[in-house]
Amino acid sequence: MKINKPKGTQDLFGYQAKQYRHIQNICSKIATNFGFEEVITPIFEASETFIRSVGESSDIVNKEMYTFIDKGNRSITLRPEATAAVMRMYVENKLYADQNTHKYFYFGPFFRYERPQAGRTRQFTQFGVEAYGVESPALDADIINMACKMLNALGAKNVKVAINTIGSKLSRDSYREALTEYFRPYLSELCEDCRNRFLKNPLRMLDCKVDSENVIMKNAPKIKDYLVEEDQRYFNDLLKYLDLFAIKYEISDRLVRGLDYYTNDVFEFIYDDATSPINGMALGGGGRYNDMGKEFDGPDVKAIGFAFGVGRVMMIMDEQGINVDNENINQIAIVTLGEKAKVAGLKLLDYLRKLELKAEIDYVNTNLKPQFKMCERINADYIIIIGDDEIANNELNIKNVKTKDETKIKLTELNKYFGIKEVKENVTY
Ligand code: HAM
Repeated sequence: MKINKPKGTQDLFGYQAKQYRHIQNICSKIATNFGFEEVITPIFEASETFIRSVGESSDIVNKEMYTFIDKGNRSITLRPEATAAVMRMYVENKLYADQNTHKYFYFGPFFRYERPQAGRTRQFTQFGVEAYGVESPALDADIINMACKMLNALGAKNVKVAINTIGSKLSRDSYREALTEYFRPYLSELCEDCRNRFLKNPLRMLDCKVDSENVIMKNAPKIKDYLVEEDQRYFNDLLKYLDLFAIKYEISDRLVRGLDYYTNDVFEFIYDDATSPINGMALGGGGRYNDMGKEFDGPDVKAIGFAFGVGRVMMIMDEQGINVDNENINQIAIVTLGEKAKVAGLKLLDYLRKLELKAEIDYVNTNLKPQFKMCERINADYIIIIGDDEIANNELNIKNVKTKDETKIKLTELNKYFGIKEVKENVTY
C-alpha cells in the first residue's frame, strides 16, 4: 500500500532543506546580535496553555487546534504558536525572579488544522522572538527593525511593514463598545464569521477577509479616535523610532491580528508585489501583549514579540530568485586503481575528513568508468587518483578539474595543497 504524507504537510529535501536551515542560521545570528537567546519548549502543551491566552474568539482555539486526550486523560494540544508556550516556560521556571529583561528566540514546527493553500499548511515552521520585562516604544521599534534586518540579510525584497495599535484595555473597552453600537444594525448584511465575532470580540470583525471591501467595514469607527492619551503617545513615539531606524511602514487601522492576547502595537510583514499571485501574504506578524503573564498566574510581564512563517519566507525567496546554494566548499573525489588501492583510498578518505574537507569515494566499483561517472555526478572540483605506485611512495595524483592541472604530491603535502592548517601526525597509507 502506498502511504503519502498527511494533508497540509511538506517534505523538505535537497535545496529546500538547505534553504530552510539557511533561514534558521541567518535569523538566529541576527537575533543573537540583538541580545536574544534560544529557547526550546515542548512540541505539545496542556491545551489550557493556548485556550487561556490565544483566546476563545480566535480561529486558532476555535477551529484549528490539534487537540487530543492522552492516556492519562489530559487534554493535550500540538502547539499552534509559541508565544503562550514561551510565557508558560517563563512563569513556570520563575525566570522573572532576577528582574532582568529577557529576550528569547525559537525556531520549530507548529500545527494548525487549516485549509491548505499556497503558504498555508497544517504543519509549518516559525522563527520567532519574545522580549519580556520592558515596556518602551524604543524596544518595539528595535524589534521591528530586527525583523527587517533579517529579511534584508536573506535578500527578500518588497516586504512592507503594516502597523497599528489596538490600545491598552482602557482604550480597547471604549472602542469595543463603539464597534458594537456601530455594527449591530448591519449584522444581517455581514458574513457568518462576522456575526460570531460580534458576540465574542467585535474587534476581530475588522480582520474579516470576506467583508474586507464592504463599505460597512470601511466606515467602521477607527481606534485612533478612542485611544487614551498615554496609548496615543506610545504609538506616536513608536512611529518616531521607526523613522529613526529608517523603517518604512504603513499605518493600517484595521490591522487587529488573529490572536486575542495583543495590547497596544500590532504589526505584520506583508509581501507587496502587485504582479505576484502571493501579493498581500503575511510573512510574519506580532505585537505587544502586556496582559499574558497574569493568565498564567504569573507576575505582570511587559511583553512583545513576533514570528515569521519560514515556509512563506522561502516562497518569496524562490519567487525573487534568491539562491542560497552558494557554499564555496571544494568537492574532492577519490578514484582507485585495484583492490589494494580501494583500501588505501578509504584511509585517505578518512584523512581528508580529518582535515575537514568534503570528499567522496565510490565504495562499490573498482572499474574506472563508473568511478569517473561518480566524479561527474557529485561535481568534483578535485579528483585524486591512487594506484599501487602511489601507495608504495605515499603519494597521490591530484587533478584540479577546472584548470585541468594535474600533479603528483606526497600525502603529507595534502594540507598545503588545500591551504589548510599544518598536520603534525605522520600520514601514510
Ligand atoms: P501568527 O500571525 O498567527 O502569529 O503567525 C505568524 C506567522 O506564521 C504568519 O504571519 C505566517 O507567516 C506563519 N503562519 C501562521 N499560520 C500558518 C500556516 N497555517 N501555514 C504557514 N504559515 C503560517 C503568531 O503565531 C504569534 N505567536 C506571533 C507573535 C510572537 N506575536 C507575539 N510574539
